[in-house]
Amino acid sequence: MNPVPFSCLCFFLVFSCALLLTNPVNAFIFVDYYCLGDTNYTANSPFESNLYELFRSLPGNASLTGFYNDTKGTSPDQAYGLIQCRGDQESQECHDCAGVAGTDITGYCPNSKSAILWFDECLLHYSDSWFFSSIDINEVLLYNRQNVTNPDLFRDRVGQLMGNLSSTVVNDTSKFLYATREIGVNETESIYGLVQCTRNLNRDNCSNCLRMIISDLAVYGDSIGAQVHTGSCSARYEIYPFFNATVFPPPPPPALPPPPTSFPPPPESHSPLSQPPNTQPPNIVDNSSGFLLRFSATQFAIFLVIVMAC
Ligand SMILES: *[C@@H]1O[C@H](CO)[C@@H](O)[C@H](O)[C@H]1NC(C)=O
Ligand SMILES: *[C@@H]1O[C@H](CO)[C@@H](O)[C@H](O)[C@H]1NC(C)=O
Ligand SMILES: *[C@@H]1O[C@H](CO)[C@@H](O)[C@H](O)[C@H]1NC(C)=O
Ligand SMILES: *[C@@H]1O[C@H](CO)[C@@H](O)[C@H](O)[C@H]1NC(C)=O
Ligand SMILES: *[C@@H]1O[C@H](CO)[C@@H](O)[C@H](O)[C@H]1NC(C)=O
Ligand SMILES: *[C@@H]1O[C@H](CO)[C@@H](O)[C@H](O)[C@H]1NC(C)=O
Ligand SMILES: *[C@@H]1O[C@H](CO)[C@@H](O)[C@H](O)[C@H]1NC(C)=O
Ligand SMILES: *[C@@H]1O[C@H](CO)[C@@H](O)[C@H](O)[C@H]1NC(C)=O
Ligand SMILES: *[C@@H]1O[C@H](CO)[C@@H](O)[C@H](O)[C@H]1NC(C)=O
Ligand SMILES: *[C@@H]1O[C@H](CO)[C@@H](O)[C@H](O)[C@H]1NC(C)=O
Repeated sequence: MNPVPFSCLCFFLVFSCALLLTNPVNAFIFVDYYCLGDTNYTANSPFESNLYELFRSLPGNASLTGFYNDTKGTSPDQAYGLIQCRGDQESQECHDCAGVAGTDITGYCPNSKSAILWFDECLLHYSDSWFFSSIDINEVLLYNRQNVTNPDLFRDRVGQLMGNLSSTVVNDTSKFLYATREIGVNETESIYGLVQCTRNLNRDNCSNCLRMIISDLAVYGDSIGAQVHTGSCSARYEIYPFFNATVFPPPPPPALPPPPTSFPPPPESHSPLSQPPNTQPPNIVDNSSGFLLRFSATQFAIFLVIVMAC
């Protein structure tokens, strides 16, 4: 029996390390993305470097309060962007989600001057123009194909839940613009709801944004679960708890600035797993994650390289 060549052992060690490195502790659940803007920026342009600087500043800053908007560069090459983490995300998760979003969005939307990427855990929106004072209307709607057996009662409860959540958010003087709640539908089942606005919105505009998307959510009111997102607000309900009851802690005064973010290289390829164009609404919710799949593809590529080297 031949001993396993030492070089192969080395390679497999390297492979294991690579696996650990490419496999993040947190796998963020991909929702959708929009590539916006009429024109593309060119590689190595000032805008590109401002955009990458923006992506480097967002994670560390967003991890402090769960939200951050920033502007990089000078006119006419300014890059504007924001990160909004879901209200239950802890500092580290928010930081990591923002980092992954910054990396992935350049793969999904190469050279786009403006784009939005939604994960369950965070939202990234950037543009070459100032957008912080407007309500974004690029909408993503996902619903579960399975319908409830008691649609009248269920619709009624979803409506109550969403109305209650909107009022809670809009009345909340903390301006956290995030609320979750569980409501009983019958003796055995509950509906879990979540609404959130990006924190650049004022309360009136948050209210308007939520009103708009909740009416779209109601179109699929017979579904056991549905979610709708724009670049400015989100609403979702499910018949299982999909959020953490613990809310992101209010911003503590940071004693030390967080360490600089090391930025991973962009993923090799998005094309095999890229989603259908955004013009084809709505998508169907399933629990699988494009992000996870894409990482598996990366790992597989590494594996192939190693096998070939052996
Ligand atoms: C921008 O670039 C993408 C891919 O690089 C391409 O598919 C798209 O057509 C370009 N858009 C414009 C407006 O040039
Ligand atoms: C936060 O944003 C500021 C302003 O863009 C930037 O100078 C700083 O480096 C960022 N902080 C972190 C931790 O990334
Ligand atoms: C963030 O957005 C607010 C408006 O919501 C704006 O006043 C502020 O200048 C923005 N910050 C940066 C760094 O762009
Ligand atoms: C919200 O609405 C006001 C007018 O009510 C408007 O001036 C403001 O720019 C809007 N945008 C945001 C992000 O609040
Ligand atoms: C679910 O209900 C909608 C109407 O609300 C109907 O159009 C759809 O066909 C139903 N789906 C299933 C799988 O029964
Ligand atoms: C309770 O509500 C759920 C969700 O609408 C439904 O699937 C289930 O059949 C209901 N159970 C009873 C006992 O009515
Ligand atoms: C939402 O519902 C809860 C429980 O029924 C209630 O205590 C609360 O006052 C409601 N909030 C609003 C703003 O309607
Ligand atoms: C604030 O909450 C109350 C109930 O507590 C509700 O009647 C009212 O509509 C809410 N305000 C807004 C702006 O939604
Ligand atoms: C909820 O938060 C707690 C503490 O912040 C954490 O230990 C737990 O893993 C979280 N659960 C989920 C489902 O995210
Ligand atoms: C999605 O996952 C949750 C648990 O994480 C499970 O309860 C639910 O049934 C799943 N939904 C679908 C449509 O598979």
